[in-house]
Formats: sequence, C-alpha cells, structure tokens
Amino acid sequence: MMQALTRKKPINSVDENGHHGLARSLSGLDLTLLGIGAVIGAGIFVLTGVAAATKAGPALSLSFIVGGLACLFAALVYAEFASTVPVAGSAYSYTYVTLGEFPAWIIGWDLILEYALACAVVAIGWSGYFLRLLDGLGIHLPLELTRGPSQGGLINLPAAAVMLMISAVLALGVRQTSVVNMIIVILKLAVIGIFLYAAIPHVEPANWQPFMPFGWSGVMAGAGLIFFAFIGFDAVSTAAEEAKNPQRDMPMGIIGSLAICTLIYIAVTVVLTGVAPYTSLNVSDPIAFALVHAGERFAAAVIAVGAVAGLTSVLLVMLYGQTRLFYAMSRDGLLPPVFSALHPRFRTPARTTMATGVVIALAAGLLPIGQVAELVNVGTLAAFMVVSIAVLYLRRAQPDLHRPFRTPFMPWIPILAILTCGYLIASLGWVTLMRFVIWMLIGILIYFLHARRYSVLGGNMT
Ligand code: ALA
Repeated sequence: MMQALTRKKPINSVDENGHHGLARSLSGLDLTLLGIGAVIGAGIFVLTGVAAATKAGPALSLSFIVGGLACLFAALVYAEFASTVPVAGSAYSYTYVTLGEFPAWIIGWDLILEYALACAVVAIGWSGYFLRLLDGLGIHLPLELTRGPSQGGLINLPAAAVMLMISAVLALGVRQTSVVNMIIVILKLAVIGIFLYAAIPHVEPANWQPFMPFGWSGVMAGAGLIFFAFIGFDAVSTAAEEAKNPQRDMPMGIIGSLAICTLIYIAVTVVLTGVAPYTSLNVSDPIAFALVHAGERFAAAVIAVGAVAGLTSVLLVMLYGQTRLFYAMSRDGLLPPVFSALHPRFRTPARTTMATGVVIALAAGLLPIGQVAELVNVGTLAAFMVVSIAVLYLRRAQPDLHRPFRTPFMPWIPILAILTCGYLIASLGWVTLMRFVIWMLIGILIYFLHARRYSVLGGNMT
C-alpha cells in the first residue's frame, strides 16, 4: 500500500523528441511571452484598486515586493525542475518523479483548482472592463445578464461567453495560440507604457501620505490578495513538452517573465497611488479610473481596450495550462483516457479543451469574484511549497542528476520559498483555508476510489 503511494516515474521517462505526440514549437521568447501573457491580468488591472483602498494603502507597492519575492524564490525552484524534468504537467509531473504518485495526485488536484478558478476570476474581471467599453459605445446589457445570482443577477454573460471563445481558439492548436498571444502581450505592454506616460505628470506626492495606513498587517493582507497578480508564470513550465529546447528555454521563460512583471507592478502601483487618493480606488477598473481622475479621458479609454486584450491573453495561457495538466494526468492513468485524446488534425486535446471551457464558463457566469481569487491564491501557494520540498528532496536523493539549470544558494532558496509562501497563506482568512481543505479531501477520496487503481505506473495499461 505505502509502496503504491510513493511509486515514482523515472526522471527520463519521456524522451527529448516528445514521442507522446504534442508538437515542439515554442522558443524561449515564445515562453517568456507566454508567461507575461499569463501573469499581467486581473491582479494588476482589477484587484489593485480594492487592495490599495481596503488593505495596504499606498504601501501596496511593498505588498508587491513581498509577493514578488515569494514568487522569485519559487520561480528559481521551478526553473530547476522544469529544465531537469521536461515533461508536460508542471509541478504535477515534477512531483511524480520525485515524491511519488500520491503527492503528485495531490498537487495535480490542487493545480486543477488553481488554473480553473483563476480562469473564472479573470473572465469575471474581463467582463467588468468589457461592460465599461460597451457603456462607452452606448450599448447597455440588461443588468441580470451582467452579474451572477449572488449579486442579484442571473448570469454574467460576457464572462461565460469569453471563456467559450478562448476554448475554441485553444482547441485549434498551440502555434496559432502562441502567435495570437504574442500580439496581445505586445499590446498589453504598450498600454501599460501609455498609463505610466499619461499618469506620471499627474502624480501628487501628498497622495502617498499616510504611506502605511493599515500598518504591516495591512501590507501582508494586501500581499495575500494581490498575490493573484503573480500567478501564471509557473504555467510556462506546463509547456515544457512543447518547448524546442526545454533545457535552455524553460528557465529563461519563467524567470524572465516574472522579473519583467514584478518591475511593471511596482511602477504601476507607485504611480496609481500617486495620482489618485488610495481611498478612492475601490472600483472595478482602477487603472482607467485613475486616469479619468487625472483628466486623461482618452488615455483611460485606450487603457480599457488594453485591459480587455490583456485579460484575454491571461485566459489563453491559464486554460492552456489546465488542459495540458489534464493531458498529463490522463496519460498517467490517473484521469480517464478521454482527457488525453488528441484531435487528429490539430494535435491538441480539442475535446477536453472545449469541455473544460464549458465548465469554467459556468463558474465564471455564476460565482462571485473575491472569494474565488483567495481560493486560487491558497492553492497556488500550497503548490509552491510542495515543489520546494521536492527540489530539496531530489538534491539529496539524486545528487548526480543532470540539471541544466541549478537553483542558486541551496538550500536557502527553497527554504525561503517555503517560509514566504507559508507566511502569505497565514495572512489569508480561515474560511478560505477551510474551503481549500475540503477541496483537497475530495481529491484524496477520488485518488483512493479511482486514480490509484487505473494508474499506468501501477500496471494498468488501458
Ligand atoms: N496573474 C494573473 C492575473 O493577474 C492570473 O490575472
């Protein structure tokens, strides 16, 4: 029994040529852009406002530094794994070859929560900016079709619709998706440049006072919420099996995208809280709002368009990560075979992609945004902690393994990752923690009732 729980896949169980069938088409630059596409989104465009107004004040820039540091430590750990274990599935696959099957299932189940619910959060954020644009064009949807039941509506129709569209684009193939993503990422960076350019002349240093109105605990509470803004860089590692040269390109994709995004977040937050008083920022489109506040209406409209484009690219990468995770788990027999069936022409798991899209579309259409975001954060932080433990373990268990990228300052970086992620988890509310525990208990039940018996590694070859 114990042996089954810790059975491991050999590290080189998938060959370099990707004989499992996914096309190898992504370069290092593609992966960096994939990361930026995943990372800059609802966190900076939507959650920054409420975090500044109700949690951290102008000191939100410190929250971003705390969140960025936790992610930097985790990214360095991820990069070692991603370059050493170039298979699809992210932390799930890495855990399978190091800690064994049961921990891998736990992580996979946890990541399903992260990717699927993050998609739902971003789709709801997308809907907010999109509705504002429609308003600007004089088009008004009936209120019941713009919000879920818990906010007194029927369904958030734009959120559900964008989710279905994104699923269709992804089902058509990764190369196409990557090109679309690249165009959107460039647009998104340009829009942030426009924000900084238009807003900096309107900065009033008086708005930065008081700098820390809610104290250090406020800064940490802010970090717990805006941690969402960093989620996604690890999605790059889920694409390892489709990278041209995973050994070189994966570390570049992960660390590069994280570094660029952290600098952007700090700059945007400092300027945002300098342009408008933090107390006024509790709105659904704080970035555009601050520019309107400064009298820059045209720039604000451009920002709204860019936010819609930016959030679209986040959805692309998140759903991509989700379907490839299903693919990997199904190939290992832990999920039914239908999850890894490739479309004969597109060579993507097209059917699973569409089915997943429908489920997330329902969640996005019906659920409230705030609590879902916190649940995503706790799931992600837990995954970072397990990966850090796994990299420490692997260095001891297999010291001679070829590691194209090695995490520096061992063992301190993984230890710091565990400590900072743990601190962030502790700053989240207990209701969120309880929901997370319930989700994980359901996962454990499914493992023992289904996954363990059908595991390919366990001898099931169907
Ligand atoms: N980091 C992504 C966002 O901010 C999930 O939307």
